[in-house]
Amino acid sequence: MFSIDIVHGQSKPAVYRDLLAAALALTDGESDAVANMANIAALIPMFVGELNWAGFYRVQNNELILGPFWGKPACIRIALGQGVCGTAAALSQTQLVEDVHTFAGHIACDSASRSELVVPVRLAGRVIAVIDLDSPLLARFDAEDAAGIEALSAAIADRI
Ligand code: SME
Repeated sequence: MFSIDIVHGQSKPAVYRDLLAAALALTDGESDAVANMANIAALIPMFVGELNWAGFYRVQNNELILGPFWGKPACIRIALGQGVCGTAAALSQTQLVEDVHTFAGHIACDSASRSELVVPVRLAGRVIAVIDLDSPLLARFDAEDAAGIEALSAAIADRI
């Protein structure tokens, strides 16, 4: 069994370092992308608080398709360039949205979501997926959250 130690009261960089280490340990030696995404999606809310959704959308045939996630059922297909996820994938750029109601074209999968962080996953220079985090709190995410999820994305890109 895989055991995970959650240390409370740590700084954000320390939390994300622990999340990264746990994700690498959990996916070590496993080649199945779905299994790895599923475990990482389950792991994220164990470390990152105040979320209502965390998971993957994969780039398939020029659109985003829902991948493994934690949270309520979500929109299945998102066009590149649409919504926060499609924008992150099309621009290959992290999207940090403090208030989803001010993001033109935001796709509301869960009406509880108020802020959102979407990070592209790149492999050999191509965006292969995005990691999407939603929170019911306004401005839940900042540059430290973005840096933490970007580091996670880079570390697991060749395992999903
Ligand atoms: N809000 C996202 C859609 C995905 S859900 O949040 C899970 C977007 O605008 O792309």
